[in-house]
Amino acid sequence: MSSEARPVPSASRPALRAAAEVADQTDPIAFARQRFTLPAGVIYLDGNSLGAMPAAVPAAMADALARQWGADLITSWNGNGWWQLPASVGAQIGALLGAGAGQVLCGDSTSVQLFQALTAAARARPGRDVLITDGSSFPTDQYIADSVGRLLGLEVRRIEPDQLGAALDERTAAVSFSLVDYRTGELLDGEAITAAVHRAGAVMVWDLCHAAGALPVALDAWQVDLAVGCGYKYFNGGPGAPAFIYVAEGFRAGLDLPLTGWHGHQSPFALEQRYQPAATIERARIGTPPVLSMLALQAALTAFDGVSIAALRRKSLALTEQIIAYADERLARYDVRVRTPRAPERRGSQVALQLPHALEVSQALIARGVIGDFRAPDLLRLGVAPLYLRHVDVLEAMQALEDVLASGAHLAPEFAQRPAVT
Ligand SMILES: Cc1ncc(COP(=O)(O)O)c(C=O)c1O
Repeated sequence: MSSEARPVPSASRPALRAAAEVADQTDPIAFARQRFTLPAGVIYLDGNSLGAMPAAVPAAMADALARQWGADLITSWNGNGWWQLPASVGAQIGALLGAGAGQVLCGDSTSVQLFQALTAAARARPGRDVLITDGSSFPTDQYIADSVGRLLGLEVRRIEPDQLGAALDERTAAVSFSLVDYRTGELLDGEAITAAVHRAGAVMVWDLCHAAGALPVALDAWQVDLAVGCGYKYFNGGPGAPAFIYVAEGFRAGLDLPLTGWHGHQSPFALEQRYQPAATIERARIGTPPVLSMLALQAALTAFDGVSIAALRRKSLALTEQIIAYADERLARYDVRVRTPRAPERRGSQVALQLPHALEVSQALIARGVIGDFRAPDLLRLGVAPLYLRHVDVLEAMQALEDVLASGAHLAPEFAQRPAVT
């Protein structure tokens, strides 16, 4: 939001509305919203969990079903480029993450890719027996680290990222952090942390789930070794979209990935009895990829065409700033506290609000068409997908939140039921 559009504490709702409209009219990436199918009457603040559907996806799916699968059948592996999909979609992803050609491979889930990356990272540092992870990171990151530790006989140390300096030593084989914290939205310094890990002689593995497609990531420039991330959040690839793995070119030779499926073989159709990894990024393949989902992700990524990541970041910061300012100025009286870092360089593309009855409030908002999510025990998470979210959407969402809190609407009994998925 430009400085003249910034809401002031005393601003009336019409004044806030006018300011938001000005910000939207001057938004250089406003055109990208047309590339999405957004339901009427819904303000979607959960693109950090499941991205909205890009308008290009249904046609791509229809073609994949009727022509590619229905008519062309197995010839599609050659004729329709199915075989090349993991690397070609990987290249689309890499271009959004500051990765030069041939270093990103699309496939499987983030959990699988984490297992691949952590195991390979530890194997690359024989004689070192400690794996460092973030004790507050997403559960799968911790569970996978523990399992890799058991398999390879490593000690897993859980720390907070700001304790890294003291934790690194000659025993550290690898460090695995999320660039953006899934709960608070805190953004770490990817370059500085990677450099510190390298100074200790260890391997850096980044989980980019909450960063990819939302903010600038410079994998090559930061000299990252390995990174993973998902396709269904800010990449908008759809439910269960395949994930990705980045393997830096200089790290690939000798890389010993644990899941040696036949697609990663240097010559898969030679059908040899012994595994020989491909020399290229293809070695990160495992088995037959989820072709339909990958075609959906391939189409979804075209929503980024012509959008500069710098402009995306500016808009994301303006929107998260708008949420923070509204919460500070108007919601503190309802015990709403901003848990996301206020410093822009420490903030991802979401805002976590800590408040009483966060579950109930989240559900009351969903009933009004404002979809964010709840993270136990007391966080309301508002995800900001800058490709399709407008300043007026954020304003309306915050006003809905204020109205819910002022009226106590969230205290109705139906909002206390905890659904299976929050
Ligand atoms: C940081 C992080 N890593 C991993 C995952 C999920 O992994 P998977 O795609 O295997 O379910 C999530 C899901 O929200 C996440 O936030």
